[in-house]
Amino acid sequence: MYIGNICIDNGVFLAPMAGITDSVFRKIAKQYGCVVVYTEMVSSRGILNMQKRTLELLEFTDAERPIGAQIFGTEPDVMGESARYIEQLGFDFIDINMGCPAPKITKRGAGAYLLNDLKKCESIFKEIVKSTSLPVTVKTRAGWKRNSTVAPELAKIAENCGLAAFTLHPRYGVDSFKNTADLEIIRETQDKVSIPVIGNGDIASEEDAKTMFEKTKCKAIMVGRAILGNPWKIKQIHGYFDKTCDYIAPGKKEILTILLQHTKMTIGKYGEKRGLKKMRKHFVWYIKSFPHAKKLKMELLRIDSYDEIVELINPMIV
Ligand SMILES: Cc1cc2nc3c(=O)[nH]c(=O)nc-3n(C[C@H](O)[C@H](O)[C@H](O)COP(=O)(O)O)c2cc1C
Repeated sequence: MYIGNICIDNGVFLAPMAGITDSVFRKIAKQYGCVVVYTEMVSSRGILNMQKRTLELLEFTDAERPIGAQIFGTEPDVMGESARYIEQLGFDFIDINMGCPAPKITKRGAGAYLLNDLKKCESIFKEIVKSTSLPVTVKTRAGWKRNSTVAPELAKIAENCGLAAFTLHPRYGVDSFKNTADLEIIRETQDKVSIPVIGNGDIASEEDAKTMFEKTKCKAIMVGRAILGNPWKIKQIHGYFDKTCDYIAPGKKEILTILLQHTKMTIGKYGEKRGLKKMRKHFVWYIKSFPHAKKLKMELLRIDSYDEIVELINPMIV
């Protein structure tokens, strides 16, 4: 498939995840074969204000390409301006967040709350497309409230405004992660537009990928939570695209080796104190399937230097 003029290989798109899909995580996902990655959602207002921590979210390396920067906000002109800035940073495309259900975002009228006002969505699309020569995409939900599905209509608006792709996680804003993704809405949406729809929601296996493609006719798939603590999932899901894919379920040693690599890279980027704090949730995800995970988790969460982690983990992998 294509995003604008960028040719994308068959494979898994890594879902943007706030607090998780930083440059380090994206590199690890790429190592396991992800074909497209995104920054987490970044405040367009924060970009214009040149906030240090906001700009840090936009750091990336060539190894991550093709990469999209995802922005959120409510003001079309501010979002357009931030798109211009993102283009200068060298991103491959810009993705607009119209799907975040978190109250800290929706109470400001951004994320999934925008689905209450399709005219506003249209103004945002137009302003961003006008402001950049990069391909523009949007990631969204079925609608804000149950029984008020707007995704197919929004996709048509996006297409008419010149957007290059439409990612759909078919749950409602008010539902956050409740219920299951309603694949019928993705099908209805892809039927309505000729731009590619990227199907997202609850994919955790090769079988789920098959169901998503067959039930919805979407052009690509995006995976989020299944990859947490388990980048091997990307390879397993790739079995759908390539039957010769060499997926082997990871053992304890492989998992701990990646945990160490991830920790080292994170500390390299953020320093020891901040890096270890960022790694805490990843530690829990990586070891969740281990017998006696609770004891190891307690030990990992107590640690405050990389050397101590190596001391703890190395005897388990050599
Ligand atoms: C911790 C977390 C953070 C997320 N942050 C973002 C985000 O920054 N931008 C976005 O568009 N979606 C975000 N999402 C939603 C995911 O991109 C994805 O749409 C959702 O998890 C459904 O896909 P999955 O079932 O494969 O996890 C986030 C999800 C999680 C679990």
